[in-house]
Amino acid sequence: MPIARRSSPILRVAVLASGRGSNLQALIDAQRAGTLPVEIVLVASDKAQAPALRRAEDAGIATLALDPKSYASRAAFDADLFARVAGHEPALIVLAGFMRILDPTALAPWVGRIVNIHPSLLPKYRGLHTHRRALEAGDATHGTSVHFVDAELDGGPLLAQAEIPVLAGDTPDLLAERLLVQEHRLLVACVAEIAAGRVALVDSRVRRDGVPLGAPLRLRADGSLA
Ligand code: GRF
Repeated sequence: MPIARRSSPILRVAVLASGRGSNLQALIDAQRAGTLPVEIVLVASDKAQAPALRRAEDAGIATLALDPKSYASRAAFDADLFARVAGHEPALIVLAGFMRILDPTALAPWVGRIVNIHPSLLPKYRGLHTHRRALEAGDATHGTSVHFVDAELDGGPLLAQAEIPVLAGDTPDLLAERLLVQEHRLLVACVAEIAAGRVALVDSRVRRDGVPLGAPLRLRADGSLA
């Protein structure tokens, strides 16, 4: 289903996050600065103690914490989570460090309206430990990707990427720290393009201004995508 706005011109966004929430914070900050015309209507988490929830509370955003252990199955948890998220009527769901594989049935109605940020140049290094794996492979560059989500782990059509050089002496932590700055910029830029109605997933292909992308968009130094 394509992203639809309600009567309000402001895109309603729900964010799912399991941890620190720095990507969420980047969205909040951009929204407050007036550079991201969205309304963050809900922040939901599978961890009641997630700092992301505290960031949301501090920003006056509704929060939801559900414990997967109180559900009989992944499918049951995801069905309830997505039903509750739907109750807030988001037009877009952003997975910002949401560390769970999603049940395909719960996800299906949201395909085209849900994006994820992942700390690698996908399709390289799906899953965990992306920084260590890039270093071990001797990669000259590393990066981050935003993609529309489908049932495949860190799969789904790529929207945009940002690259950084791997430097001599880099450790996984140093690389992660430098990349995080670009993650924040990339995520804000991608959500802004979706909010502006420029980027959408149509017939399983990411289109910008109606034209299918031949390759993921790239983050430029000025924060725009090209
Ligand atoms: C980020 O590196 C994101 O790409 C990955 O998990 C991390 C979340 O960081 N999926 P934060 O919670 O947004 O600070």
